[in-house]
Amino acid sequence: MKVSIIGGGGLVGSCTAFALQTGRVVREITLLDANAEMAAGQALDLLHGASLVADQRIVAGGYEQVADSDLICITAGLRRKPDESRLDLINRNVDLFMQILQQVKGAGLRQDAIVLVVSNPVDVLTYLAAEYLDLPASQVIGLGTQLDTIRFRSLIALQLGAAPTQVNALILGEHGDSMVPIWSSAAVGGLPLEKQPGWTPHLAAELFTRTKGSGAEVIKKKGGAGFAVGIAIQEVIESIALDRHRVLPVSSLQKGCYGLRDVSISVPTVVGRRGVVATHEIELWPKEVQGLRKSGQVLRQTIDQVLSRIGAVR
Ligand code: 2OP
Repeated sequence: MKVSIIGGGGLVGSCTAFALQTGRVVREITLLDANAEMAAGQALDLLHGASLVADQRIVAGGYEQVADSDLICITAGLRRKPDESRLDLINRNVDLFMQILQQVKGAGLRQDAIVLVVSNPVDVLTYLAAEYLDLPASQVIGLGTQLDTIRFRSLIALQLGAAPTQVNALILGEHGDSMVPIWSSAAVGGLPLEKQPGWTPHLAAELFTRTKGSGAEVIKKKGGAGFAVGIAIQEVIESIALDRHRVLPVSSLQKGCYGLRDVSISVPTVVGRRGVVATHEIELWPKEVQGLRKSGQVLRQTIDQVLSRIGAVR
């Protein structure tokens, strides 16, 4: 599979490329960036390691690379300031994102191409991409709360001294302030989280608060996320490349799951070569469903604000 990363010269894009390189699944990785020299430098740095990793083609290029790409990952965007919410970013990033979509569309997308949106605010931008690109909505996916979910699991494991890969806990909803922790199905090694020694509601609240603030915490310390978001993206892309049908908390245009419509938001999603294969409306606690619907309303309001500013995207 050929993957083109728009924003490949930046921290998120280059960490994604490195995760894909060491994952050894995709055949070709192309880095596109407004800073062409930076993209070329990232590609060269990755290429230098090729002889120890895998027989992949890793190059930098322009939008001419889009036409024969199986997947286009859009990571380009301005970063949030530590005290800025993701939605605050919207106006600065929507204009840039629409320009990127115009260039992607102009370059010519394959009808079976998948577009993976990472740029923030990812749910709103995923909605705009699904509306603007002439692809089935199932082929336009946003990273959504996939990153929040892996952070959540890792922080729970750290707190409990558990093996991180044995923690199963989900974050759904907006990749942002209204994200929802799903405690109803949380477990460690198949054992309910609430049965773990020392587990208390207060600890649960603390862990969720830290998860929700992780993006800002990383931005404050090092300017922005890279490694974890690259790994989060790698899992989505490899589920597509290998048609693995993994259930992932990614964002896509909803048509009724949990009563959510006309908004891109993260629900349990089966991800395969065709993109969104299905969504699973797993049974949740009533307050979790309420949180999801509230999150959907927050996002729909923002989409309406954006559309009132930029006009219809079609
Ligand atoms: C984060 O949460 C980049 O939004 C991403 O760090």
